[in-house]
Amino acid sequence: MQFDSEKIISFIKEEFGLEKVETSIVLGSGLGDFADHLTKIKSIKTSDIPGYPHSTIIGHAGEIILCTYTGVNILLFKGRIHLYEGYDISKVILPTKIAISFGSKYLIVTNAAGGIADEMQPGDLMVIEDVFFPHYKSKFVGLGSKNRILNKLSSDLIEFVLKTGEREKIDLKSGSYAFSLGPSYETPAEIQFLKKAGCDAVGMSTVPEIIFSQNTDMKVIGISCITNLAAGISKTKLTHDEVTETANQVKSKFSNLLKAIIEKLPVSNS
Ligand code: HPA
Repeated sequence: MQFDSEKIISFIKEEFGLEKVETSIVLGSGLGDFADHLTKIKSIKTSDIPGYPHSTIIGHAGEIILCTYTGVNILLFKGRIHLYEGYDISKVILPTKIAISFGSKYLIVTNAAGGIADEMQPGDLMVIEDVFFPHYKSKFVGLGSKNRILNKLSSDLIEFVLKTGEREKIDLKSGSYAFSLGPSYETPAEIQFLKKAGCDAVGMSTVPEIIFSQNTDMKVIGISCITNLAAGISKTKLTHDEVTETANQVKSKFSNLLKAIIEKLPVSNS
């Protein structure tokens, strides 16, 4: 079936019987259980949506869930679409497009990431302050208007998340997230390069969503769950199991932070 984002969006809106949410959240590898903390209204498996690119990764369930929490309507994406799965960029940003079409004021993008900076340890949560992707700009052509990329993420929102963490007594780090195409993890030499460039964490997602949102009214918050030390920093070979195991261990801290963010984000329910 031919990929048609408008048809996919109409299908989802009809299934949900709703046109508007306040906030959308993309849940990264192993972080999908957050959905259990909210009141579910209705969910759709992405495999039941005609033409929706299917998720091929363990830990990415492929589900879109309409939820409420403290009176706020939320669209949750359990699982995302990655460039490394062979999908082109117009498909990778589909969840972001859906969030925009629902009038989301905010998009919270979350991911599992490898820690590069000395202070980043497995189990840490890092608020994304900036992104690094010089080697992949050509992959993202067309996402930003006239490709004039990229403003930093809103410093007000970053501050808001850090303050929220402080209030909830959740220890938060902040730093820059480097995009790596994948599907294999990086080499130790690549990580040394990223470290010298000042990158704090590395992962294979999130940057397309951030770039695409820059030219819209939707504001973006990025949160990385540091699931492992990046290649070469850790002396052991990195596996996807390590990533999902750590994500599993930080579940409650991660959920508490997201809930506190949702509660305090300024939204209008009208
Ligand atoms: N590298 C890239 N992506 C990742 C990593 C990593 O070390 N950990 C989790 N996702």
